[in-house]
Amino acid sequence: MILLTVISAGIANAQRAMVNVDSRNSASLNGRWKIMLDQGNIGDWKKIWIEPKPQKKTDFFEYSFDGAPELNVPGDFNSQLCELAFYEGAVWYKKTVTLFKKKNTRQFLYFGAVNYSADVYLNEEKLGSHEGGFTPFQFEITDKIKDGDNTIIVKVDNRRLENGIPGYGYDWLNYGGITRDVKIIETQRTYIQDYFIQLKKGSLNNVQGWIQLNGEKSSQKITVRIPELNTVYRTKTNSSGYAELEFSSQFKLWSPESPKLYRVIVETETDSIADEIGFRSIETIGNEILLNKKSIFIKAVNIHEENPMKKSRAFSLDDAKLLLNSAKELGCNMVRLAHYPHNENMIREAEKMGLMVWSELPVYQHIKFDDNLVPQKMDLMLQEMIGRDRNRCAVVVWSLSNETYSGTPNRDKALIGLTKKCREIDPARLVTHVINTQGYTNNSFNVWDPLYNYSDLIAINEYIGWYIPWQGKPSEVKWKIDFSNKPVFISEFGAEALYGTRNVPADQASYWSEEYQEQIYKNQIEMFNTIPNLRGVCPWILYDYRSLGRMHPVYQKGYNRKGLISENDEKKKAWHVMNDYFKEKENEK
Ligand code: GCU
Repeated sequence: MILLTVISAGIANAQRAMVNVDSRNSASLNGRWKIMLDQGNIGDWKKIWIEPKPQKKTDFFEYSFDGAPELNVPGDFNSQLCELAFYEGAVWYKKTVTLFKKKNTRQFLYFGAVNYSADVYLNEEKLGSHEGGFTPFQFEITDKIKDGDNTIIVKVDNRRLENGIPGYGYDWLNYGGITRDVKIIETQRTYIQDYFIQLKKGSLNNVQGWIQLNGEKSSQKITVRIPELNTVYRTKTNSSGYAELEFSSQFKLWSPESPKLYRVIVETETDSIADEIGFRSIETIGNEILLNKKSIFIKAVNIHEENPMKKSRAFSLDDAKLLLNSAKELGCNMVRLAHYPHNENMIREAEKMGLMVWSELPVYQHIKFDDNLVPQKMDLMLQEMIGRDRNRCAVVVWSLSNETYSGTPNRDKALIGLTKKCREIDPARLVTHVINTQGYTNNSFNVWDPLYNYSDLIAINEYIGWYIPWQGKPSEVKWKIDFSNKPVFISEFGAEALYGTRNVPADQASYWSEEYQEQIYKNQIEMFNTIPNLRGVCPWILYDYRSLGRMHPVYQKGYNRKGLISENDEKKKAWHVMNDYFKEKENEK
């Protein structure tokens, strides 16, 4: 059933990471790593992964990690050294770790994420490479380690690729580096590589899932326990280590109001693993979104994976708590984690806090869909995204693209294919694309994109009032939506304001002011009342965040200022408009 490694020409060959690494026996490699900058990208030619060993007096090497600067891992490199503030290029990382071969044990080198590509070496031998900045991967090193000191070298390269995911252009800072945890994971010879334990689509008590073992002892007895419910389910894996799971129980369902999680223990004859899992059903019926069979209105906000106050890529539990507590305070029941899978701390903390999660692939705007490697890269990222979070009940939506254009060669075909793949891998969650190609003339919207035929939601990005002026009263907007039997979700709207820019004299341009942003929010909310089948809204964005394309020297300074909160944690006037609207929605329930 599950491919352990994905190998094809031009595509990275790292293994897909095993599930639930935090519950595994592991040693952290987080901490200080030595680095070498390689802006000229000559490190491959110099074979930097080979320790310089001068043979004779005249031998010299123009590289060495001895005396080299160090960086924190996890962490982006741009915010750690001022000379790397806007760096896009190769950086070589080195870590020495003491390891020992152990009987009946396998060892894996695991990365939570590396942006954008990683070439990984162990003891001067290449283990392989990975492409994609926001999903985990691993390499088996059982037969490659030596007793004692082992040297790990990683070439990290955050240069943009034309056929990359994302491609050349995106509206966020391209933080590079080893941005999430690094671990050495120890497993049994035959270990539990993956499992899927969630409710069957549309059911409130039937679990439908599977388990996948990895190792020579593939056919084993399996027990799944939920002690709190006295639930014990037994089955047996087949000769490829795979077993379907089907059982029912009286679950207290997970919801934002009561984010109930159960300790679930999976045991085999050679391994066992525990996880905190919630059970909920999410579906659309007609133009309703139903959570646990009840129609819901989604009160969401967009979040980038950035700690605003640290001006750095977020990765830690504290970063997650900061961002998610803010979303809670705004009145949200969901967070759209834009535009790429965020770190696992975000997902698990949202789950504990009772926030639904919208997880998205960085298939963003200008993607080269007619490049024959692109569909494979998207497929791999999809498997890695779902592979890590499929047991996270908070994740209710897989979003597969943002603002791509129907006219782009091969776009429809590639994304329809990706959608089908997503539904095959995970039939139990909502799947959608985010689109901004709708027409807006004479104060009327025309929503038509063919991709909506394959999406569970009509997710619309619109910036009326900011990029596009109103063409009439917001309360009189008309809608032509070719997909009337589906829930509509405004996945982005908003405007920019520099916190503190207020009471602009009438003779001066008022955009960038808090009042201007506030008014656009008020107008948008007026317009929301005109939208048929509106089942949720999601302002762009919770915090001002770094984006180099935002170049206004006074009002932006490399920041997208559409935050409801500044990067210094200051609430703008529009924050209160949004908070009041969410309170209203809450009271309507
Ligand atoms: C787009 C896009 C965002 C971007 C936003 C903006 O809709 O999805 O990534 O930041 O608009 O222009 O601010």
